[in-house]
Amino acid sequence: MTQLSPARKPGDRPASDNGKTLYGGTSSRRITVRDIAAAKERGEKWPMLTAYDAMTASVFDEAGIPVLLVGDSMGNCHLGYESTVPVTMDEITLLSAAVVRGTTRALVVGDLPFGSYQEGPVQALRSATRLVKEAGVGAVKLEGGERSAHQVELLVSSGIPVMAHVGLTPQSVNAFGGYPVQGRGEEAAQQLLRDAKAVQDAGAFAVVLEAVPAELAAEVTRSLHIPTVGIGAGLDCDAQVLVWTDMAGMTAGRVPKFVKKYLEMRQLLGDAAKAFAEEVVAGDFPATAHTFH
Ligand code: KIV
Repeated sequence: MTQLSPARKPGDRPASDNGKTLYGGTSSRRITVRDIAAAKERGEKWPMLTAYDAMTASVFDEAGIPVLLVGDSMGNCHLGYESTVPVTMDEITLLSAAVVRGTTRALVVGDLPFGSYQEGPVQALRSATRLVKEAGVGAVKLEGGERSAHQVELLVSSGIPVMAHVGLTPQSVNAFGGYPVQGRGEEAAQQLLRDAKAVQDAGAFAVVLEAVPAELAAEVTRSLHIPTVGIGAGLDCDAQVLVWTDMAGMTAGRVPKFVKKYLEMRQLLGDAAKAFAEEVVAGDFPATAHTFH
């Protein structure tokens, strides 16, 4: 594997933030792609979460999460589909608008769903324009490296910031036959590097690396001047993203190895629902405090 010169050394601290760090900064205006570029220059790491509704988005915005992705993971996590494949432009547009309404500071990135950009750059521009105009997102995301570079180029030259997504691209689940780790072996690693470079050269402002060996993700991160956003791609990416329902322990059943649960929300919510139900059945709710006379 080619060794490329590092843009920064592991452990380098961000330069003085002057209140402008993406996470923990004091500026209250909405974050833009220029702030993202400045964070890469400072060597500053940042978090990204998915969000699919205004209320949850407002919680993450108040917590200072600088970038919220209205991911097509809404298919599995919010809409009850088996994968991201069935998600439509109407669904992404509706939920992206809700996330924009629920936030004041976060950069909201709307995902382009399967079938909304694969035909070519013109279709991609039509879909991305809809997300920007109708939902008010500040950027869009699409999957693919070299294969999507022409789409990225036209969107960026039309004034729409693009986050790319390489490695495991869940919209290709039927071609992959599941969700396998990508970039293993010399040939696959070189292809991943070419994919990441292709979207950077096409003008993407950041690139998601999903399910990629940590060593390869570190090499990609060193070789790009745009930030890498890791999900199952190790510690050396510039940013980290998790699907919020996974991170909060809301997802039913098995979650991928790369997920860390910061809360057992499914358990807590279920317990609250049972406590309510038991009080209703026992005739204890509503009490006087919850009653009008
Ligand atoms: O749709 C999504 O949530 C994503 C993230 C996993 C990066 O693409």
